[in-house]
Amino acid sequence: MSSEDPRPTSRIPGFYELPVRERIARLVEHGLLSPESAQLLTRGALPVEVADRMSENVLACHALPLSVGLNFRVNQRDYVVPMAVEEPSIVAAASNAARLVRISGGFVAEADPPIMTAQISLDGVPQPEQARARIHAEKARWLEAADRVIPSMVERGGGASDLEVRVLEPESGMLVVHVYVHVGDAMGANLVDTVAEYLAPLLVAEIGGEVGLRILSNLPLRRCVRVECQVSSEALGGDRLADRIVRASRFAELDVFRGVTHNKGIMNGVDAVALALGQDWRAIEAGAHAYASLSGRYRPLAVWTRSEDGVVGRLEMPLAVATVGGSTRVHAGVRAAFEILRVQDARELATVMAAVGLASNLAALKALAGEGIQKGHMKLHRRKEAASTEAGIERSERSGA
Ligand code: MEV
Repeated sequence: MSSEDPRPTSRIPGFYELPVRERIARLVEHGLLSPESAQLLTRGALPVEVADRMSENVLACHALPLSVGLNFRVNQRDYVVPMAVEEPSIVAAASNAARLVRISGGFVAEADPPIMTAQISLDGVPQPEQARARIHAEKARWLEAADRVIPSMVERGGGASDLEVRVLEPESGMLVVHVYVHVGDAMGANLVDTVAEYLAPLLVAEIGGEVGLRILSNLPLRRCVRVECQVSSEALGGDRLADRIVRASRFAELDVFRGVTHNKGIMNGVDAVALALGQDWRAIEAGAHAYASLSGRYRPLAVWTRSEDGVVGRLEMPLAVATVGGSTRVHAGVRAAFEILRVQDARELATVMAAVGLASNLAALKALAGEGIQKGHMKLHRRKEAASTEAGIERSERSGA
């Protein structure tokens, strides 16, 4: 614990051996969960009446295991990280990797300011190149116009910050205007959609053509997160394993079939945190894979290189996440997850999610480059199999089969 930031440690040895209720009690004792939220988690955190207002044609709530990843330390702060995922071994593997990273000081991460992209496409614009130049020349006026429609975001320090125009197809006069908007701690989809819908007819009035689409882009290139960590060969289990991890990373750089699986392992961690915290994980997934392909070739989001005494991992990806809006307030389980995680804002949340992604990647590469994935995996898979057998037995007993 640092003196200016008295946060509970994320090291809770023996946590996995406790019964579920005692794990919750431990988080309460630890100061990470209020007794009220603990009760909510025990009872089930999403009443069907609330669910009925979140979606349509609702029948029930679809449950997933809600776990916590332990041992995480990011930018000198400890985090107990809520993760919702059905696949065995993801939480244990990420927690183990975080423990190894912790020995070398933890993860170092930075997130860009929360800038989202509004896209306005226009069709049939006469003289599209001149139109592009005209909009660019009046950039300040367009940004002011955009701000008019999102005054409360501007009041909170956000708002339109930049604009770009690209001609996509000169012959048909298709061009696209990007308006970059600082969305504060929101994911920002509603804000940028509002901006796009407001500006589109004004643009047509000025440069002609017809309004096309007005929607955010799920490739928020100006909202990336970068995270880095080091692990010593000693902590990994030797120089040979360190070398093999680096070769595994190189394999992912050279081959798309491996690259996509490598990235899937990263998203195991990122998505699990996203789900626990009520984030738009489809948007995150879409952005991640588009970013991986940006150079024209699908690439790993994280790469590993050798350092003098071990390995260094670096991950970079776009990450549009929120600490306000969406289901962050409606879903009591999500509120409890935020209580446990204790992040101040969306940028801090992005750094932690990226660290969990990098930890998941390290865990996978360490297993694959070492004894293979099946040994550890299968032990945990067998627990799940046993659970499904027990559930089957109960069901057939109830039905008298
Ligand atoms: C399984 O969910 C994820 C892995 O396939 C990732 C990887 O191969 O790097 C183990």
